[in-house]
Amino acid sequence: MHALSTILNPSELQGFKTTDEREKTMTSNLLSIRGLNASVDEKSILHNIDLDVPQGEVHVLMGPNGAGKSTLGHVIMGDPVYTMTDGTITFNGEDMTDLPADKRSHAGLFLSFQAPVEIPGVPLSSFLRAILDGRPDQPKLKNKEFRKRVKELAAELDFPTKNLNRELGVGFSGGEKKKIEMLQLLLLEPKLAILDETDSGLDVDALSVVSKGMEMYRERCNGTLLIITHNTRILEHLDVDRVHVMVKGNMVAQGDADLIPQIDANGFERYEAQLAEAQDAAQAEAE
Ligand SMILES: Nc1ncnc2c1ncn2[C@@H]1O[C@H](COP(=O)(O)OP(=O)(O)OP(=O)(O)O)[C@@H](O)[C@H]1O
Ligand SMILES: [Mg+2]
Repeated sequence: MHALSTILNPSELQGFKTTDEREKTMTSNLLSIRGLNASVDEKSILHNIDLDVPQGEVHVLMGPNGAGKSTLGHVIMGDPVYTMTDGTITFNGEDMTDLPADKRSHAGLFLSFQAPVEIPGVPLSSFLRAILDGRPDQPKLKNKEFRKRVKELAAELDFPTKNLNRELGVGFSGGEKKKIEMLQLLLLEPKLAILDETDSGLDVDALSVVSKGMEMYRERCNGTLLIITHNTRILEHLDVDRVHVMVKGNMVAQGDADLIPQIDANGFERYEAQLAEAQDAAQAEAE
């Protein structure tokens, strides 16, 4: 078998024998991505990505800095900064490919940003109220009920309620911003949560709060997780079903939770070398 197809053939990576089998599984997964290519400002970043996440599972996306993990999260969410040049995104049986970000959110997709945004002038509580009111699947809460719910969640996340009156993201510490992302997650109860380094830069206490938030999400709404992380400590309390590895915009490997200690011990060098070798071989064959 050719080296490039060994490492890059999406059907093989997914463990399917035929293209037919690969297509069939698209409907049985909560999230199913096929042949996704994406670029920004004419620069191609993601190459032929396939990814399946079944309902109720915990998946982890790993890879070196600049591999394209955050870009993939943003493209799944429909961030207009990126152009999807090829492929399909199917979520909960619906084709998301051409839908704007708000429709994807209403369908139950959620992305916590690696770098949460700041919106001066918008109080955090008003923002939370607006995103909840915009959800067709959530019951409309009276002001008092809403305040009670947010205060309860804030307390569970060890987030002082006086912060709810502050402007969104403005002046919050890195750890506080990540807790606000978790607050949104628990408030919206999406079907699939993509958490982009929600654990990075946290002290021990904040890390355990975020970890608790993930468990709460799993328990309360049988949540499905796609966790992007460099720090495998956050995964200790979760049963990881599948690990996906990206290098230079390619999905280069996937496996079960046993991949995590291997990556912890050996890093991504092996995958980077395999990808370089496969690309060289493909170029030589093309010439
Ligand atoms: N809006 C953008 N404009 C220009 N280049 C971009 C943009 N977004 C991503 N890129 C580029 O795409 C590549 C992948 O970036 P991305 O942030 O997805 O990597 P990552 O795997 O999340 O890395 P990290 O682990 O450091 O967070 C990088 O080379 C990055 O500079
Ligand atoms: Mg990133």
